[in-house]
Amino acid sequence: MARFIITESVPLKGKVRVSGAKNSVLPIIAASLLADGQSVIEEIPYLNDVRIMCELVESLGACIELCEGNTKLKITSGSISDTTAPYELVNKLRASFLVMGPLLAKTGKARISLPGGCAIGTRPVDLHLKGFMAMGANITQGHGYIEAASRGRLKGGKIYLDFPSVGATENIMMAAAIADGNTIIENAAIEPEIVDLATYLTTMGAAIKGAGTDTIKISGVSCLTAASHAIIPDRIEAGTFMAAAAITGGDVIVENVVPDHMKPISAKLREAGVEISEELTSIRIRGGELKAIDIKTHPYPGFPTDMQSQMTSLMSMAHGTSMIIETIFENRFMHVSELKRMGANIKIEGRSAIIEGSNKLTGAQVKATDLRAGASLIIAGLAAEGVTEITDIEHIDRGYMNIDTKLSSIGAKIIRIAD
Ligand code: EPZ
Repeated sequence: MARFIITESVPLKGKVRVSGAKNSVLPIIAASLLADGQSVIEEIPYLNDVRIMCELVESLGACIELCEGNTKLKITSGSISDTTAPYELVNKLRASFLVMGPLLAKTGKARISLPGGCAIGTRPVDLHLKGFMAMGANITQGHGYIEAASRGRLKGGKIYLDFPSVGATENIMMAAAIADGNTIIENAAIEPEIVDLATYLTTMGAAIKGAGTDTIKISGVSCLTAASHAIIPDRIEAGTFMAAAAITGGDVIVENVVPDHMKPISAKLREAGVEISEELTSIRIRGGELKAIDIKTHPYPGFPTDMQSQMTSLMSMAHGTSMIIETIFENRFMHVSELKRMGANIKIEGRSAIIEGSNKLTGAQVKATDLRAGASLIIAGLAAEGVTEITDIEHIDRGYMNIDTKLSSIGAKIIRIAD
């Protein structure tokens, strides 16, 4: 079992570059199925999740070529040879469900293994299906699969999302791009990754207005053509490095960021006493005396749930009592029991974590239960006295490319012990 060994680190210092956004490249790879021809996607984070999504679109008929040190993908798509996303792939990557919209729109049918829940929650897909039904698809479920079919082209429709779901907004937008007529998505998600997907679709010839607002209007076109696109930087990877710099009292410049995307994270770190200065594509973090703060996760532009566990670690080292409320997922505090093994003083009450900060964590053997929980343990390990061993690090590798080498380059004492 691969693991990380982390020793209490000196204040991190230097420059670290953020990769392309995992939560942008995954829907964009799915969207490439909509076009004929070869799309060239740059700034790829070469992650386990990206490899699985590539394997899935290849199984559906696309041809994938990785080049330039695995940072560029050439995806040649045309006729779809299969319309089933099998259990063994969907089970490894829930985001596989994002091929449903493109398959349904392009071929009139899609058969996707029902994505199970995951460590952080049940992760339903009802809003995705509500959107497809509003566009004329017939949905059936059975034997662990969801099947969607439409007689002829999908028809544009009007959808009000009960919750501004990122995945549902993406899936419906992709399906609507080549539907017959106009689609309106209301109460849409407005995350930067939605805008990135809309930019790629528009470059392919889609007619989309309002991406980045809560009302997106899509006028279906008859076909899309392949296009080139560069993935936006990963705001959660950037935030993770910012928290690592802050907990060690370091002085780090995080490069390849869009400061605007970082606003909710930067605002909370400033509130916690961290000094932050922004340049056009970089952010400098200087750690100081950490103050306890309260955080409530919200859809963008609120504080991102994907940074909640990292901030829980940081607040474990702050002076005072912090309250962190997780409003998006029902079970996203699994890092807390591991942090308590390191001496953190945290009490869970329903969706709230009450953190009595102290200036002392101690190294221990802990395990990564999910992607961001694993990141929070790395952050805690950097500040904990002694040595921390993190197992199950495949969870971390799903969303962070070379996190150990990147952190080592700014002074972190972290080594990877392979299987
Ligand atoms: C995306 O997941 C991200 N994943 C998640 O990142 C992120 O935490 C989440 O958005 C919220 O920002 C990718 O983009 C691949 P949602 P997604 O649909 O699309 C409920 C990470 O760590 N919901 O916005 O699945 C759902 O139960 C991962 O990088 C429904 O009820 O998130 C949840 O409570 C974790 N019905 C809430 O909405 C639906 O049909 C948010 O889900 C869909 C969602």
